[in-house]
Amino acid sequence: MKLSLLTASLLLSSSLYASQIHGTSAKSEGLQAIKLLGSTLKSQLKEKLQQDSNGTVAITFCTSEAQAITQKVNTELPSHIKVRRTSLQLRNAANQADNLDIKIMKNYKKSFEKRSAGAAMITVVEREAFTRVYKPLTVGAVCLKCHGTNVSPVIAEKIQAAYPKDAAIGMKEGDFRGVIVAEIKKHP
Ligand code: HEC
Repeated sequence: MKLSLLTASLLLSSSLYASQIHGTSAKSEGLQAIKLLGSTLKSQLKEKLQQDSNGTVAITFCTSEAQAITQKVNTELPSHIKVRRTSLQLRNAANQADNLDIKIMKNYKKSFEKRSAGAAMITVVEREAFTRVYKPLTVGAVCLKCHGTNVSPVIAEKIQAAYPKDAAIGMKEGDFRGVIVAEIKKHP
């Protein structure tokens, strides 16, 4: 009796300990993965935008390389972590949102509309099988060239050709663009 009580309390405390450790490290693992994908894409984008001012090099780059870069970042991460981008206004159907993404993004959109949110508004979702970490993306001045209200005809044409169902256009600075989301599996 005494022994089994002890065992039970040890089991309980060790599983509590594990979940606490998991909770904090999953969030920081997720944030690191988000940062890796976000900064890789952004630095490449900046480099391409510098190569020509009308943005044709950059749009060709985004269209042909964004997915490959996302895959490459994922192969560099531990196998229990995946990172991706999604949006309520999609350009590339490969970035499709699931129901949980949509729920989280609708909350972000509301907060952005009230101008009460920013890039620092991280959301962590705990589920039995995984932890998800969401980071919202704001439309900044640099994004307008390809997502804004006044996209040049050359760029608009390239976007239409590659994404006939594009919904990621007509945005203004400060709008909610979408999220980067990391998923950390709990039982890899
Ligand atoms: C040179 C053109 C260009 C610029 C500038 C640009 N994007 Fe994009 N964006 C694209 C293209 C093309 C895609 C679709 C390709 C992909 O990423 O899979 C895309 C896709 C995305 C996606 C993935 C979701 C979706 O709709 O498919 C997000 C999120 C995104 N862009 C955010 C931004 C943000 C934030 C900025 C500014 C920091 C920005 N973009 C600047 C061209 C651009």
